[in-house]
Amino acid sequence: MKVSLRKIVPIFAAFLSAFAAMQLHAASAQDGVSSNELVKESGWQTVQENCTKCHSAQIIVQNSGSREVWKSRIVWMQETQGLGELNLDIENSILDYLAANYGQLASSRRPAIRPGFLPTNPEPNQ
Ligand code: HEC
Repeated sequence: MKVSLRKIVPIFAAFLSAFAAMQLHAASAQDGVSSNELVKESGWQTVQENCTKCHSAQIIVQNSGSREVWKSRIVWMQETQGLGELNLDIENSILDYLAANYGQLASSRRPAIRPGFLPTNPEPNQ
């Protein structure tokens, strides 16, 4: 049986591109998984020292929030989870680091449709 190259090459190319697409997908899926380690930006050692005794850094890096939100988490841990008082300079350094590197994420939801752009309600009496 003679197998023509003209038939084989496109099939081979299709397999190759499917494989390449899978590789790309795997790579981007991996990028999406955040590292369990703190970003090595200014002040990270202070966070490492003070914030990873009771839990790993993972719980920190998977959270986000403004400075106030991070402050409220610290207060919550102090009031309910046995976190001691932090030296003011240390606390400020931690909050600066967290707000800068794990700041408030923008909402991914689309804004609500303005009333003028909504279709009329077909059953207004309900
Ligand atoms: C004395 C122990 C202790 C220390 C030190 C500590 N934490 Fe925690 N933290 C906890 C406990 C306990 C929880 C709850 C864990 C759980 O839900 O599995 C927690 C939860 C968290 C959470 C998740 C809160 C939520 O809303 O789910 C974050 C974020 C966090 N800690 C950040 C920090 C940061 C930042 C520091 C350093 C200032 C820190 N932790 C230091 C005990 C501690």
